[in-house]
Amino acid sequence: MIHQQAAKGLVSPVIVAIDKQDLNSALTLADSLDPKLCRVKVGKELFTRCGPSIIEALHQRDFEVFLDLKFHDIPNTTAQAVLAAADMGVWMVNLHASVGLDAMALAKQRLVDNGHNTLLIAVTVLTSMTEKTLSQIGVESDVESQVKRLALLTQEAGLEGVVCSANEAASLKALCGPDFKLVTPGIRLLDDSKDDQKRICTPEEAIANGSDYLVIGRSITTASNPRQKLQYIVNDCLN
Ligand code: C5P
Repeated sequence: MIHQQAAKGLVSPVIVAIDKQDLNSALTLADSLDPKLCRVKVGKELFTRCGPSIIEALHQRDFEVFLDLKFHDIPNTTAQAVLAAADMGVWMVNLHASVGLDAMALAKQRLVDNGHNTLLIAVTVLTSMTEKTLSQIGVESDVESQVKRLALLTQEAGLEGVVCSANEAASLKALCGPDFKLVTPGIRLLDDSKDDQKRICTPEEAIANGSDYLVIGRSITTASNPRQKLQYIVNDCLN
């Protein structure tokens, strides 16, 4: 597959969030980036609007894709959705760890059985959730304990890692070990706008905390020259 060949040797930890509403603006943004310097993330809004055509178009441009659809369903449906993503050739896909141990393990097994090496990661607790929102859905533990519990469950199920805040990365690395991948959004340079993110880290801080992949959206996508900003982050901040 073209994208897998193109990605050989890609060492950049940056995943640019393509948070656009239609194919044209998503591809205009992609064309302002460089697949040798980043991967890209396609989320629920863009995928629901464009479908697999956005993935194909990004692969044609040699980008590796993180399909961020956060699947959450009964075990067979979750596993089949993960397999469908892998069949499209995406590099990484995710589900909610709250589907449970057996469902996560089944999804991983479905990938293995079909010869896919697609990275499968889990969302522990959404960063929009607080102790109050957890309590409202019957989870009586604090956010940090719940994140740790679900990260360990994800690891036990054989998945590659979790999405987490870069502020949680150090403690999760200590808990789960160096091979467990941490994918962290909420990244801003010191002079960027925070937008709606509350707890942010710079790229340097995120890597120092143990992040393996940095999901960066507006810091790059709203820059006057996204390619230059991406180059600056990869070459100056992370080297
Ligand atoms: O523009 P910004 O850098 O804030 O974008 C971050 C991206 O990461 C968005 O696509 C957002 O939906 C996603 N994300 C996040 N926080 C999470 C999980 C995903 O910001 N906990």
